[in-house]
Amino acid sequence: MDSFLTELLWVLVFSTFFTCIASCPSVCECSPNGIVTCIGSNIIDTPKQLPTHTYKLQLALTNMQVINERSLEKKELMLRFSLTFSHLHTVHPQAFRVAPQLKSLQLSDNDLSAFDARVFSPLVTLEELHLNRNQLETIPAELFQGLIALQDINLSQNKLSSVPSGAFRGLRNLEILNIGSNYLKTLSPTIFHSLINLNKLSIHKNKLERLEAGIFDGLVNLEYLHIHSNVIATIPPEVFWSLRNLKNLTLSNNQLEFVPERSFYNMPKLSKLTLYNNPLVFLPDELMGHMPGITEFYLYATNLITVPGNLFANMSGLQTLNFHFNDVLSDLPPHLFCCLPQLQKLSLKSNNLQQLHPQHFSRLNKLDILLLNNNTLKNLPENIFQELGQLTMLDLKANELKNLPEDIFTSNTFLKVALSENPWDCTCSIRGFARWIRQNKHVVLDGQDVMCHTPKYQILRTLDSLHDEELNNCNVTTVTPSCTQGSSPTTPSATEAATSHRAQTSVEADQTSFTYDISPPFYDMLVEEQGLNFVHHNYISGWVYVWFLPSNAVLTGFLAFSHVLLVATGFFLILCNMYGIHLLSKRVEEIKALYVHI
Ligand SMILES: *[C@@H]1O[C@H](CO)[C@@H](O)[C@H](O)[C@H]1NC(C)=O
Ligand SMILES: *[C@@H]1O[C@H](CO)[C@@H](O)[C@H](O)[C@H]1NC(C)=O
Ligand SMILES: *[C@@H]1O[C@H](CO)[C@@H](O)[C@H](O)[C@H]1NC(C)=O
Ligand SMILES: *[C@@H]1O[C@H](CO)[C@@H](O)[C@H](O)[C@H]1NC(C)=O
Ligand SMILES: *[C@@H]1O[C@H](CO)[C@@H](O)[C@H](O)[C@H]1NC(C)=O
Repeated sequence: MDSFLTELLWVLVFSTFFTCIASCPSVCECSPNGIVTCIGSNIIDTPKQLPTHTYKLQLALTNMQVINERSLEKKELMLRFSLTFSHLHTVHPQAFRVAPQLKSLQLSDNDLSAFDARVFSPLVTLEELHLNRNQLETIPAELFQGLIALQDINLSQNKLSSVPSGAFRGLRNLEILNIGSNYLKTLSPTIFHSLINLNKLSIHKNKLERLEAGIFDGLVNLEYLHIHSNVIATIPPEVFWSLRNLKNLTLSNNQLEFVPERSFYNMPKLSKLTLYNNPLVFLPDELMGHMPGITEFYLYATNLITVPGNLFANMSGLQTLNFHFNDVLSDLPPHLFCCLPQLQKLSLKSNNLQQLHPQHFSRLNKLDILLLNNNTLKNLPENIFQELGQLTMLDLKANELKNLPEDIFTSNTFLKVALSENPWDCTCSIRGFARWIRQNKHVVLDGQDVMCHTPKYQILRTLDSLHDEELNNCNVTTVTPSCTQGSSPTTPSATEAATSHRAQTSVEADQTSFTYDISPPFYDMLVEEQGLNFVHHNYISGWVYVWFLPSNAVLTGFLAFSHVLLVATGFFLILCNMYGIHLLSKRVEEIKALYVHI
């Protein structure tokens, strides 16, 4: 029994093997399960002989320029045909008469520029039609007529400047339609109305200037809608309201200045929405409907100055919020981030934020990364990071911070912070914060670059090199609370008032705002001459020696030259002197000799 089965198996395997070998054309590879792949520039038509059970024929990189009326004949079992990366420019109007059984036809990456209106009409069972990456400038309105089995049409990367309004009529089974990367300027408002099973629609990378009202009506099964990279300047109100199953919507890279109220209502399943790279100047008070599943949101490169306080209120699932690179964004409403309990990463970098509200981040208990770099922050409220117990990374680089409260980071156990490229003011008011830095060197990622910017004599010193004793001479009655030893808890308003006061007076701070309770060293009253702007200093036994070097290249050159000249002259004089002595002694010898003779 066993041996009989083994024998039968062998017979089967061998017979399949031999039929394949027997009829596989030399330029092709034939797999036992019915796939034939033929590659090569010497192919100019479909192979005549194929293994009888071939259901899929793939030709690529060929020189086949025409599919003629006999190219596909006698291949009754072939269901899938592809001819790609070739130079196909003509399909005979009767080419598919002989192959009505086809389910998939892929003619991508060729030179097709036109079709006979009825060329595909025999293919009533066709499910997949890929014509992407060709040279099509227009398609006949009847091209897909009657192809009721079609599920997937790819027309992307052609040169279509219009699509007839009835082109997709009746395609009730269509699930995927890609007409992206063409030159479309307008679309008929009813063009998609038959497509009640459409799941994915791509119209990105065209030249669309607007979306017509009602254009997406009825697309209740749509999950992915790609509209990015057009020049859309207006969208009609409620245009997306039918799309109650939408998951991804891309509107980035357009010309939108406004978005109508409630545009993104009725999309409870939305998980991705892009709006970036639009010249948005204003967002309405009601914009985002309930969308708890959204995890990422990008809002950057806009012209927004501020946003409504409830913008993110319905996006409760957000984990990443990239709200950055908005050149003029200067004002964030206090409760903007109120309702984002899942948020882990918040990027506000490269905006134009000058200040932050003490309560801004108070509800973001899961926040892990907070990027505030490259803004114009001048100071920060003392308790602003207090609730961020999970924060591991805070970037404050490239702001206008002169000082920070000493205990601003005390609640952030796992923190690493970047602080460089700020104009730190190393007068006595920095004592508390400098002490914190000294004691938490491992927390500051860029400690070697956190440098004093004022006063001049401290330039190029790092904050962690400042010692309490150097800053001890402050008159405690005139300095801000952060400078007092072991500063007692202050109320937010008091801190704010103090910080804003500091910000106002900071310009003169290094010359005027401090007096001394012991006989003052001169350095806080340093008066600087015009034109000298490189400073070097030494400390020797309590005295500070300050050196100025002119930065002016001509002057420096002149001084260097004078120096060399002086040294050279000195050297020359010494030589002269020695030569003179030599001559003199010679003369003396001569005279001696003379006297001896006499
Ligand atoms: C359609 O064609 C484009 C470009 O040729 C390609 O990126 C895309 O994956 C294709 N398929 C679908 C389903 O869009
Ligand atoms: C939809 O968005 C998700 C991210 O939320 C992404 O991973 C996925 O690739 C997108 N799918 C399509 C078809 O755009
Ligand atoms: C949040 O979504 C609900 C339901 O979609 C809506 O009624 C409410 O107005 C939305 N809130 C905001 C601030 O848009
Ligand atoms: C800083 O922000 C400005 C304004 O948004 C931006 O143009 C610039 O490229 C940013 N610089 C860096 C280094 O990120
Ligand atoms: C601080 O300076 C003021 C005058 O500027 C002076 O009246 C005051 O006594 C000084 N305080 C201390 C503690 O030296």
